[in-house]
Amino acid sequence: MILRQAQGIVIAIANQKGGVGKTTTAISLGAELAARGVGTLLVDLDPQANATAGLGVASRDLATVYDVLIDELPMAEIIVPTPQAGLDLAPSAADLAGAEVELVPAMAREQRLKRALEPIAGRYEVMIIDCPPSLGLLTLNALMAAEEVIVPVQCEYLALEGLGQLTRTLEAARRNLNPRLHLAGLLLTMYDGRTNLCQQVAAEVRRHFANTFATVIPRSVRLSEAPSHGLPICLYAASSLAARAYAAFAAEVVDACLPQRARVEAQP
Ligand SMILES: Nc1ncnc2c1ncn2[C@@H]1O[C@H](COP(=O)(O)OP(=O)(O)OP(=O)(O)O)[C@@H](O)[C@H]1O
Ligand SMILES: [Mg+2]
Repeated sequence: MILRQAQGIVIAIANQKGGVGKTTTAISLGAELAARGVGTLLVDLDPQANATAGLGVASRDLATVYDVLIDELPMAEIIVPTPQAGLDLAPSAADLAGAEVELVPAMAREQRLKRALEPIAGRYEVMIIDCPPSLGLLTLNALMAAEEVIVPVQCEYLALEGLGQLTRTLEAARRNLNPRLHLAGLLLTMYDGRTNLCQQVAAEVRRHFANTFATVIPRSVRLSEAPSHGLPICLYAASSLAARAYAAFAAEVVDACLPQRARVEAQP
């Protein structure tokens, strides 16, 4: 049974708005996919390095994505394992903030990440990129490398604000630079079904964006605690509602983005 595609697919988790659940989604989805047997790499492309810390990796003495983008160190040389078997990490550190500026005069500056991932694409079925909260050169590198984009949206007042700009950026990237780029969908996060506001926001997002994932991620203390233990939610609180929600979301992502695997899994 051949499951592995010749080249893994690249999924960018992006939203220029801060604190909407990008990193939580990148870690939780990556760990869930790995737990299902999907070999996954998580690329931490944010100078805040929250995905790195959230997986219990101390990047102080490690080579990081910065060294890959600026000094063209091979991606394979920075990859480290994580507490979740089958999930590897390309760590980040604060110096990545400098890359945003240092890359400006560089040749093919928006293609650096894409080129760095090419030699290892055969090793993974999925490569997830956790983007920083901006639409700068780092996020542009992610959009050049990606086939799919997932946009987490926090269920709160003004949730739709900025989504117009984001979709226009995706459209421009697709038209001018990366015709393979596809918006896999929006993911509603931090949902609290007890509040009318959350329900209204969720309905409004779905009205504007038909390709919003059916799964909704609940607001969960367990999810906010997990990073301080260096564990993804599926290891920290496997039976929590939040872990089950991310498992359901991962199944949707397999259906939407990994059709070959979805067909095999569907067989009795
Ligand atoms: N479903 C949730 N329930 C409760 N807390 C959550 C949930 N999702 C994320 N959080 C918490 O909210 C904060 C922001 O989440 P996260 O870091 O994933 O957002 P982000 O979009 O990556 O932020 P940034 O834009 O700064 O990179 C974190 O403290 C995280 O633990
Ligand atoms: Mg983040």
